[in-house]
Amino acid sequence: MSDPVRQKAKASKPASTTTEQLEDRPPFLGFGLGLRAQHYQDILDGNPEVDWFEVLSENYMVPGGRPLAMLDRIVERYPCVMHGVSLSIASTAAFDEDYLDGLNTLAKRVQPKWISDHLCWTGVHGVNLHDLLPIPYTREALDHVVSRVHYVQERLGRQLCLENVSTYVQFDQSEMPEWEFISELTRRTGCWLLFDVNNVFVSAFNHGYDALAFLNGIPADRVIQFHLAGHSDMGNYVVDTHDHPVREEVWDLYKAALKRFGPVSTMIERDDNIPPLADMLDELQHARELAAEVLEPKNVAPNPAKTTTNA
Ligand SMILES: [Fe+2]
Repeated sequence: MSDPVRQKAKASKPASTTTEQLEDRPPFLGFGLGLRAQHYQDILDGNPEVDWFEVLSENYMVPGGRPLAMLDRIVERYPCVMHGVSLSIASTAAFDEDYLDGLNTLAKRVQPKWISDHLCWTGVHGVNLHDLLPIPYTREALDHVVSRVHYVQERLGRQLCLENVSTYVQFDQSEMPEWEFISELTRRTGCWLLFDVNNVFVSAFNHGYDALAFLNGIPADRVIQFHLAGHSDMGNYVVDTHDHPVREEVWDLYKAALKRFGPVSTMIERDDNIPPLADMLDELQHARELAAEVLEPKNVAPNPAKTTTNA
């Protein structure tokens, strides 16, 4: 990271909020899980106390089959959101219009509370690298991503929700810290933000900045979802592996995020070493209890039918 960016990190203060932005805020859904095939039957048999599910869009962009049949039954019972990994919003390649059509088709079926993807690129020149790749935080890149977000929002007929990714390299060309880039992006496009608490921890650790500078640099009224996940500690760096329970240092950052952002729909991602549903429910209960400690208990009751505002 270049020195001017570090200077900005030290000087960052909480960004301000605006009341008109709060009026169309999506609902607070409570405490959810990522929907995984290993848990389909337990969910349908047990109706577990999960407030909502996050559905991985690409897994259901097919014309039929068991996953879609399971999904149909689950969306009848639980509020859902859609989360994708293939939008490649920051790429210089043209959008995959079939993919955007597929998102719209799936959205008609799921009726998601919102649709999210990542602030990253995943490929170029027809090559999909199947990874969430970092971008330089330059004014030129910002203009580019702003125009792409506007396009996607037109195509989807709704505001997009974008997630910060975990990163392992940075660009000397960056002209601003990540949180300033994200703040400008949401200000100029109206997109919502998915604040991945673990990703902030991972990137801050790997690049040697203060995770609280990131947290305080994001406009509080734009964050509508938290991700929590486990990472792997490699000693002098950490990797966002989603194969462990959430680590204690990430729970600490989650508490700080709750203080700053208020009641925000929270879910846990687990993509490898997936444990039984009961274990995920225990971990989710821990998130509920931390939120009740940090916030007034009445503020952590889900209300999927209504909009809510941050404390
Ligand atoms: Fe995430």
